[in-house]
Amino acid sequence: MDGEQAWTRYWRTGQQHSCFVAGAPFETATVWSEFFDGAPAGASVLDLACGGGALTRIALGHPKGFSVTGVDFAEALAPVEGAVLMPRVRLEALPFEDGAFGVVISQFGLEYADADDSVAQAARVLAGGGLFGALIHHAEGELARAAEAGRVRLQRLTDADGPVAAAAELGAAMLRGESRPDLVTAIEQALRAESGRQQDQTTAWGLGFLAEIMAKRSLFPPAYLAENAQTLMVELQGFETRIGQMVRAARSENDILKLCDRLETHGLSAHPPTVVRDQGGAAIAWFIRASR
Ligand SMILES: C[S@@+](CC[C@H](N)C(=O)[O-])C[C@H]1O[C@@H](n2cnc3c(N)ncnc32)[C@H](O)[C@@H]1O
Repeated sequence: MDGEQAWTRYWRTGQQHSCFVAGAPFETATVWSEFFDGAPAGASVLDLACGGGALTRIALGHPKGFSVTGVDFAEALAPVEGAVLMPRVRLEALPFEDGAFGVVISQFGLEYADADDSVAQAARVLAGGGLFGALIHHAEGELARAAEAGRVRLQRLTDADGPVAAAAELGAAMLRGESRPDLVTAIEQALRAESGRQQDQTTAWGLGFLAEIMAKRSLFPPAYLAENAQTLMVELQGFETRIGQMVRAARSENDILKLCDRLETHGLSAHPPTVVRDQGGAAIAWFIRASR
């Protein structure tokens, strides 16, 4: 499953946030409110990779009365009242005139796109005197570590020789009227092994789903296990794609300094990057500000 498909599936479920710390959306309104305080009233704002509109809503809620446009390469985006949201737009090819926006922002979005092209495009559509701001995943933070651990846990389930693929194979065998006790044993062993390991919300859900369809497989028509195992595989692969992208998008200090250099190359003047932390002091994001 590619990135567009994985994010489209995610936003279709009605999610509004993508960055969670200790199970709750990471609070970014404070840092953005201070940033928006420096923007002119009524400015036209472009939210790059807006997704479920978490940052779009913060911009709309600011008392300066911005007009907000959000773009994202997902195939469909849930509407945000008061904003124009444009799906199927890649950050590498923004469909706007040069200097079309007074403020260009991104929250956990710019770093997912091609580094050179997305910065060039963001700078191109920013008007003279305009402001640029971006929150970027921090590579050394707890969030990045948790994401990588989650990715590894998911991969154990979705591997070609993992228990979900085995359930799909068992389901196909049931459709042919064959019994495969070897697969049943392998799946049960995997479920037992996973029950002794630390899980997160996603893998706990996936394992619960797998245990349930295995337990009920003989109660329903023969296609039941094959269909449900396939659905489970697609869902878990979507999670794995998104979390893998997040792991790759996380940036070190060196990467961030290069990003600031790129902004300068494209005519912006960048402030020194700052680190945004959670309540426990762990680094979650870099905050980059620049002006043209
Ligand atoms: C972690 S989510 C952040 C969404 C939102 N800004 C937020 O704060 O919740 C990353 C978003 O980047 C989008 N994305 C990734 N690569 C992209 C690209 N090359 N062009 C446009 N959007 C992209 C994804 O579809 C997804 O919605």
